[in-house]
Amino acid sequence: MKRKGILLAGGTGTRLWPLTRAVSKQLLPLYDKPMVYYPLSVLMLSGIREILLISTPQDLPIFRNLLGDGQSFGISLSYAEQPKPEGLAQAYQIGAPFIGTAPSCLILGDNFFYGAELGKLLTSANSREKGATIFAYQVADPSSYGVLTFDSQNRITSIEEKPAQPKSHWANCGLYFYDGRAVQFARTLKPSARGELEITDLSRCYLQDNSLHGEKFGRGSAWLDTGTAEGLLQAAQFVQTLQTRTGLLIGSPEEVAFRHGWIDARQLLALADAIGQNSYAQALRQIASDSR
Ligand code: DAU
Repeated sequence: MKRKGILLAGGTGTRLWPLTRAVSKQLLPLYDKPMVYYPLSVLMLSGIREILLISTPQDLPIFRNLLGDGQSFGISLSYAEQPKPEGLAQAYQIGAPFIGTAPSCLILGDNFFYGAELGKLLTSANSREKGATIFAYQVADPSSYGVLTFDSQNRITSIEEKPAQPKSHWANCGLYFYDGRAVQFARTLKPSARGELEITDLSRCYLQDNSLHGEKFGRGSAWLDTGTAEGLLQAAQFVQTLQTRTGLLIGSPEEVAFRHGWIDARQLLALADAIGQNSYAQALRQIASDSR
């Protein structure tokens, strides 16, 4: 069965108020494209083409207007509402009719990933049929994340949500590959002390089942926080610096679709023309012409 994707792009965005009083943070610009383009590109880079976007009733029409049915990116996009931010694992209750017993990948709409090894790690996680794969990134202060510990053979030994005293510096990134049992496991979860269905508890079901794999992102990778004004600006500067230097795009669904062969050069050029005359469209035109 083909893996399906869930892009969770709801929440309150309170850490970014007043920016997010009017619109979901995943719709804010991260340099030259909406933030949601980046996690969408990650799902696509993994080879996933059937994606459910979950957001608030208020923001969902804006996402629908921006991304449509996904056809122009060579994917199929559908939408579902999360009326209240009752936890990341709720995505598997809301998304149950969409996922069924298919393997899946959940990505958080505000997560930014970059790195030379990314494509390889994603493809290998996608091809793992049994169990779950989650990702770890070393951060100076992991206390506001899920925190993972590993044994000497890089097997996960524990996972804790926002521990007051973290046992390691390995933060659990907002990207989760689960096998076909995720919906079934999600039904057994109870809200945590903060009243949310925790994704950490869903991953723990796999740990107890002895089938939770962990991948560490190396030093050459970036996993950035876009949840504060400072973090958002830093991520935007990171993208601007690399894109300007190399002329290559980061987080472009149009480019990923083209590289996978889901759209052809003519369709890529049409997408660039619909954008008009700016550096983003110009980079897409360049990709199309380099391929000829
Ligand atoms: O970013 C990775 C971290 O994400 C993990 O290390 C943690 O284990 C995981 O619990 C989560 O931590 P946060 O508590 O920081 O997640 P936050 O509440 O900030 O939500 C992450 C994104 O998901 C955010 O853009 C809002 C959105 N969201 C959140 C909740 C709780 C939803 O769309 N629906 C929700 O119900």
